[in-house]
Amino acid sequence: MKTLIALILAAFAASAVADGGSRLTAPNNPKWKAECGSCHLAYPPQLLTADNWRSLMGGLDRHFGANATLTPQENTEILAYLERYSASSPAHSATTLRISDTPWFRREHREVAAKLWTQAAVKSRSNCAACHTAAERGNWSESSIRLPGGQRWKDRD
Ligand code: HEC
Ligand code: HEC
Repeated sequence: MKTLIALILAAFAASAVADGGSRLTAPNNPKWKAECGSCHLAYPPQLLTADNWRSLMGGLDRHFGANATLTPQENTEILAYLERYSASSPAHSATTLRISDTPWFRREHREVAAKLWTQAAVKSRSNCAACHTAAERGNWSESSIRLPGGQRWKDRD
């Protein structure tokens, strides 16, 4: 039984690697997950540059219309984590400090039809989990993407 479970897990891991979904794995940080995952999904550190994370963490009192202020200690710890696993490429940088405005995001989603972003079930590009159904568990692979309505991305026409 243990062997069977191990084989199944290995198969899942292999499929995640095959379609690139494993690129966003970073060791978990419980404080980051709790504090930055309470209003929305905890966005992976690899999706913004260190400069962008520093600006974002420096303005948590006016965070996209919300107040997400932390204690100074929490802020320092979480920023260190974000910086450590941040992106180095300028394709992951946006003056708005939004992952969804970076050149990387636009390229990665260029085949996603404009009307999908505004559907009630999605509302905003920031709502990653509306389509990336396993992203909370760190799995961004294409095989786990469902479009609003439930269609698998891979099965679309
Ligand atoms: C009090 C609620 C709240 C907390 C806590 C919070 N955020 Fe946010 N965050 C928001 C809101 C609201 C938005 C805007 C969402 C939208 O436009 O749909 C947002 C957007 C973002 C975006 C831009 C998403 C995009 O479109 O690419 C990033 C990056 C982000 N948050 C990072 C963080 C980090 C890092 C933390 C932890 C330090 C954090 N957030 C904690 C409310 C919060
Ligand atoms: C409307 C649905 C939708 C939303 C919302 C969405 N995505 Fe995506 N995402 C997709 C689709 C569909 C693809 C595959 C596009 C393709 O293959 O051309 C994709 C691809 C990706 C990939 C590449 C996956 C791989 O293995 O190649 C990543 C990473 C990703 N998205 C991250 C995000 C992040 C981060 C957010 C939120 C800030 C987000 N997405 C919001 C639909 C969405």
